[in-house]
Amino acid sequence: MHYSTLRVVLPLCFLGLTLLSGCASFRYGDDQYQIRVGAHGKDVMWVPSKTELVHLMLDQAKVTKNDVLYDLGSGDGIIPIEAAKTRGVRSYGIEYNKDLVELSVRNAQRAEVSDLASFRQGDIFIEDFSRATVVTLYLGENLNLKLKPTLLAMKPGTRIVSNTFRMGTWQPDSEFRSSTGEAGFLWIVPASLDGTWEVQDAINPSTSTARLVIRQSKQYFRGSFTPLSGKTGSIEAGSIKGNDFTFEINTPTERKRAMYGVFEGNGLSLYERHGDGRSSLVFLAKRVIR
Ligand SMILES: C[S@@+](CC[C@H](N)C(=O)[O-])C[C@H]1O[C@@H](n2cnc3c(N)ncnc32)[C@H](O)[C@@H]1O
Repeated sequence: MHYSTLRVVLPLCFLGLTLLSGCASFRYGDDQYQIRVGAHGKDVMWVPSKTELVHLMLDQAKVTKNDVLYDLGSGDGIIPIEAAKTRGVRSYGIEYNKDLVELSVRNAQRAEVSDLASFRQGDIFIEDFSRATVVTLYLGENLNLKLKPTLLAMKPGTRIVSNTFRMGTWQPDSEFRSSTGEAGFLWIVPASLDGTWEVQDAINPSTSTARLVIRQSKQYFRGSFTPLSGKTGSIEAGSIKGNDFTFEINTPTERKRAMYGVFEGNGLSLYERHGDGRSSLVFLAKRVIR
């Protein structure tokens, strides 16, 4: 039987991780292993993602064949298999239930993506997925929160995309919805810019011109900008996407300066957007206190 015919459309009954009794009769699987929606899982039950939402999650995360995708708690393998099939991306599933792992391997064979989609039995809180550039989740908010410190410490620019569940105070960078109303959320791991930076003139980098203090909370920051001669300005509306960021410098006396920057090789390059639409590299910065 073709892989796609093994999956049927059904309502998600994943409300507060409580299975509504009407869902329990839906069966999935193949001739070797069958499973009911809501079957017990190690930390959360098995409920499959719908194909439409999976494609939206891959779209939102801008998955390409250059990525490495990990689905944490991969169930019957739908996310890694669809990702391999439609984006040509190397995909991995980590799943605790060994029968689901074996079913995923057979599903990948039926979908003819065994060369790209692989699965391993393991606990997502023990297994290493640090080389992922995209992480997909359909776990529940409590598990997302437990994973949050690990996710926030991943390489800047790693995309995390979750079916239905948020991540507490880590605001998503975008939210989306399928035609049948399921929600999805995307986070882009921000570079860590927190600390005090010595700012140099971009034209004459040997000259120190200011001190920049950044106070970061997830992908947002505030702070201060103190020129060596001049008044301290406040850093406002700081926002980070991976290694790229934007902010404003406000001083009581001067016009507001719209800035953007990039974090690379442990330093910052800071650009100013001018009123006429041009922008120019104005400062370089190196961190002096983390
Ligand atoms: C809601 S299902 C999602 C399945 C799949 N990701 C999808 O979107 O269709 C959650 C999966 O996580 C698995 N799981 C629960 N706790 C786990 C753990 N600690 N380590 C690995 N897998 C786990 C369950 O067995 C289940 O298959």
